[in-house]
Amino acid sequence: MTTAELYADFAIREAHDVSATYERLSLAVSRDDQLLALLDTLSPSKRQPNLLFGVVRFLGGPVEDPADFHDFTVANWPAIESEMCGRATQTNEAGRCALLLPVLASLPQPLALLEVGTAAGLCLYPDRYAYRYGDHVVGSGEPVLECAATGMTPPAGVPEVVWRAGIDLNPLDVTNPADVAWLDALIWPEHAHRRDRLRAAAAVAAAEPPLLVRGDLVDDLPGLLEKVPAGATLVVFHTSVLYQVPRPRRQAFVELVRDLPGHWIAVEDPDVLPYDALPEPPGEALHNVLALDGKPLAWTRGHGQGMVWFG
Ligand SMILES: C[S@@+](CC[C@H](N)C(=O)[O-])C[C@H]1O[C@@H](n2cnc3c(N)ncnc32)[C@H](O)[C@@H]1O
Repeated sequence: MTTAELYADFAIREAHDVSATYERLSLAVSRDDQLLALLDTLSPSKRQPNLLFGVVRFLGGPVEDPADFHDFTVANWPAIESEMCGRATQTNEAGRCALLLPVLASLPQPLALLEVGTAAGLCLYPDRYAYRYGDHVVGSGEPVLECAATGMTPPAGVPEVVWRAGIDLNPLDVTNPADVAWLDALIWPEHAHRRDRLRAAAAVAAAEPPLLVRGDLVDDLPGLLEKVPAGATLVVFHTSVLYQVPRPRRQAFVELVRDLPGHWIAVEDPDVLPYDALPEPPGEALHNVLALDGKPLAWTRGHGQGMVWFG
């Protein structure tokens, strides 16, 4: 895919109906030869729309008006380039717990949760958040995670979690204002509800910080597994992570995780983690696949806002 195609595709498949600002901006970048030439000086993995838009917001730049965005980006390219090379998209979306909850609640309790690609660890607290699946409310507290779910019966309650830990190449610390500012910059402009959710979830994590390990999901998983307590069901999970992992390493991770003595939950793009015989996705928008132990169960929306169960 060319960089122009990447931005046009992002506008149509990711931003459409989700963020009018980013849809407009991404289409404008896809037709902006000067910005495309600057982006093409970066390595392919650093050209992503989410990274560019997040960095510009992090640096205080405008994203509402494509012309203002163009001028800011050209004028500040050295700083933008440096941030884009030094950072990765680490959007940490507690809302994805609404996708995990039905599976977590169905497993033998209590649970020991180990998340790879955990960012700040906000998805390690599925037992502390509340959920609304249509009229059905599960759990209590803040944030309340809304998920338009079809084809599944919502669980009666939240799971019991006795241990939680995460691995990330660059773990973020919710008690560090600069890390929270980066997480905030990654949230799409119109999504005030996601900003509120970030604050509420960060407060939950700050009150009981998880064990976070700096490391790689293949090389450093075995070391962390040694710390899992006996008497709990091990659940290794990841949401929107493997697209950042090179293909041979993805394969190495799958080979490692599928043989573990516990369960493995994945929420990933099916182009990144393919399955045999998936049903047609429900529409044009980008959908991930929720899978338990390699068995696909549902199409899911990127931030946990919806799921269509088929498993
Ligand atoms: C898009 S974020 C998703 C964070 C979180 N899973 C969520 O859904 O909110 C992807 C995370 O994966 C991490 N990551 C990417 N490659 C990794 C690797 N090889 N080992 C560990 N973490 C990795 C990134 O640093 C980033 O924090």
